[in-house]
Amino acid sequence: MLNLTINPIDFNNQSNLTIQPPASGLYLRGSLSIPGDKSISHRALMLGALAQGETQIQGLLLGEDIISTANCLRSLGAEISDLTAETVLVTGRGLGQFQEPLDVLNAGNSGTTMRLMLGILAAQPNCFFTLTGDRSLRSRPMSRVVKPLTQMGAEIWGRQNNNLAPLAIHGQKLRPIHYHSPVASAQVKSCLLLAGLITEGQTTVTEPALSRDHSERMLKAFGADIHTDSETNSVTITAGNTLQGQSVIVPGDISSAAFWLVAASVVPDSELTLKDVGINPTRTGILDVLFKMGADITIKNERIVAGEPIADLCVCYSRLQECEIAGELTVRSIDEIPIIVVAAAFAKGTTVIKDAAELRVKECDRLSVMATQLNRMGAKITEHPDGLEIQGGHPLSGAEVASHEDHRIAMSLAVAALQASGKTIIKEATAANISYPNFFDSLQQVCCS
Ligand code: S3P
Repeated sequence: MLNLTINPIDFNNQSNLTIQPPASGLYLRGSLSIPGDKSISHRALMLGALAQGETQIQGLLLGEDIISTANCLRSLGAEISDLTAETVLVTGRGLGQFQEPLDVLNAGNSGTTMRLMLGILAAQPNCFFTLTGDRSLRSRPMSRVVKPLTQMGAEIWGRQNNNLAPLAIHGQKLRPIHYHSPVASAQVKSCLLLAGLITEGQTTVTEPALSRDHSERMLKAFGADIHTDSETNSVTITAGNTLQGQSVIVPGDISSAAFWLVAASVVPDSELTLKDVGINPTRTGILDVLFKMGADITIKNERIVAGEPIADLCVCYSRLQECEIAGELTVRSIDEIPIIVVAAAFAKGTTVIKDAAELRVKECDRLSVMATQLNRMGAKITEHPDGLEIQGGHPLSGAEVASHEDHRIAMSLAVAALQASGKTIIKEATAANISYPNFFDSLQQVCCS
């Protein structure tokens, strides 16, 4: 019997999770519908709110980050129906038509909400906004978007030379720029494209490697004048077109499917089917990494739904081996690195992850936290400034580990615990609700012994 219990420990909605696999081991079996893609869900709400007319969204993620985006947009005057409905309706206000909110906007834990909203708010003349977030978000760098927005003429103030939230924004008529981003970041790119939507002229963003392109796809579908140049990793938006409400179907989030892909790959005798998962090529680094490691994954029923490629993924246990992850592959698997570290800990040989310094400024320092917590369980992981070296194959045993209130760390440690001997206690495991509200129910459902 799998002992999987969540015990509330205080009144702050923080919970510990205990996982104790039976001594005889366990395996995973079943079929799971993966919750909606977080990046696409944010964008569907934002573009719906900026568009004219009604947007219908099916499959919207009900995670806490999306609730933060919906609440910000409602405070700006957009009408958004009950988020729990099968189809969520957004009545847009039209470009540049948001109302000045009477209170502080709160992005919670969500970097995407804060950075994308900054582009929208900075370009909204004659309105004043304040934007804050939780403790983690208030420590994350915003200068990566504040700097280029300031070059466009934006007025934004915050702590540490306008880098840290809370931020105050005095909306302005902006001027277009061509920005060469030093980081491959979809949040930076999307922020500037959203600002460029109502900035007369052409706004161009060039990035060092192609980050996820959901904004480009969805802006095009809503009627924006947008062009991409794949040779230079550049995207240009020309203001002038209005956005028209659309029907959006949100695919399952491959970043959430990743936990199951690794869990079934490392737990012997497992077999899982993951339904309707988004396989946009800018997001499939996790599949490429697992294929390199020798995983047994079959991609079935490939199709295009509402402009995004989706498929069902079938994964069976297999003996994984080491691999190297660097450059463009790191960018394409940036959110999956924590769970890739778990796969590497169970694989044969030494896996090297490079060019991943961005992970130090996510919801927590994901390089340091994954190394420290898995080493507590008996893994052998060495930290480098921009990555990790994981000596695989050292048996893990249960320990008390900390998620640092980071959703992806909490779920990654839970997967590690399935193949560890004895009891693992994961602190603040309910952080998973940020991107995957029913993760632990689904885990309970597919675990067999
Ligand atoms: C996201 C972009 C990525 C990713 C984040 C979601 C988005 O961040 O890590 O979870 O929706 O645009 P960066 O753009 O900062 O790399």
